[in-house]
Amino acid sequence: MQVALKIWRANSSTGGRELCEYEVDAPEWATLLDVLDIIKDRHDGTLAYRKSCRMMICGSCGMRMDGAAVLACKTRMASIAESGHVPVISPMGNLPIVKDLVVDMEPFWAKFRAVKPYLQPGYTVPPANREHRISQKRMNAIHKESLCINCGCCVSECNAMESSPEFLGPQALAKAMRFVGDPRDGAKNERLEDVNGQHGIWECTRCYFCNERCPKGVDPRDAIAKLGAESIKEGIDRDMGAKHAKWFVHSAKTTGWLRETELVPKTQGIVESIKQARFALSLARVGKVPPPFPPHVAKDVRESRRLHELLHEQELGGFAGVVQGEAALAKLANGHVEGARDPYGPGSFPKPEGA
Ligand code: SF4
Ligand code: SF4
Ligand code: FES
Repeated sequence: MQVALKIWRANSSTGGRELCEYEVDAPEWATLLDVLDIIKDRHDGTLAYRKSCRMMICGSCGMRMDGAAVLACKTRMASIAESGHVPVISPMGNLPIVKDLVVDMEPFWAKFRAVKPYLQPGYTVPPANREHRISQKRMNAIHKESLCINCGCCVSECNAMESSPEFLGPQALAKAMRFVGDPRDGAKNERLEDVNGQHGIWECTRCYFCNERCPKGVDPRDAIAKLGAESIKEGIDRDMGAKHAKWFVHSAKTTGWLRETELVPKTQGIVESIKQARFALSLARVGKVPPPFPPHVAKDVRESRRLHELLHEQELGGFAGVVQGEAALAKLANGHVEGARDPYGPGSFPKPEGA
């Protein structure tokens, strides 16, 4: 098949950038990485990019295709070539460009090292010659985080890192969760303190681009949500983000409704609320501020109260209570599945009328 690509060529020493177009003959099974290899072997040996395993394991070949991060060795070209589209290939975002598609990974590794990606001592040592046995249920909490191959695709697309380069970022935080959730680790609360620092979990804007672009299904945003829930469970809730989350949980539990009018005093305190009084009044004048009293209570408020009780009864506090995205997404994609668990079945909340 004929495959055409446009590649942003760049050289950090000269500062020059140029969009170059290539068209090559490639086998039907070719990936983006195979096409780059053909260009380098037969057309232009000066093209620079990284690769190693060619099988989605080493994490070397992260780059952007049409502005979104991909692993070149995971991206098949047949359907793109057939459609006649000519994709634009560029280096990953949020990292300095060294040459063409090669970025400087040092800022990435610095954040990786900052979360101490290794077990800390302090756990109970198993008897001699015995392994440390951990339940499957417990390991499920960090299963996805353990799949990370350090490719940087999530970091490339993180808009919080774009505006705040000091933000620890999705990959380092997913790695932190991998150790926070590991029952063998002896430094859970120290780790939680660290990720609650100035450029930690609460700087995430929840755009979910990291979940969307991760080629290994790590879902770093879910890991950040787990770190937030575990921090609050352990009483590490000094950040405004934590107070915000706590108030939303409280208001949903008590009224089934997000009482946003009370959000500012509950998260920023009375003094800050007074400073923002003029802004609040301007919002109130155009009907954007519902009266806080009496609080609006949702018709089926018992559902949200029961849900809250269930989490406690099932001991699903902290990271264990974070709903895993794939289950919810599968339900959205497939609708009701015959024989699936009845959400209103035994042990759950009462079925509302008409449901
Ligand atoms: S969800 Fe948070 S960590 Fe993930 S890309 Fe968006 S801002 Fe970055
Ligand atoms: S979380 Fe996913 S996208 Fe980010 S570095 Fe790990 S494997 Fe790559
Ligand atoms: S070459 Fe190893 S992940 Fe692509």
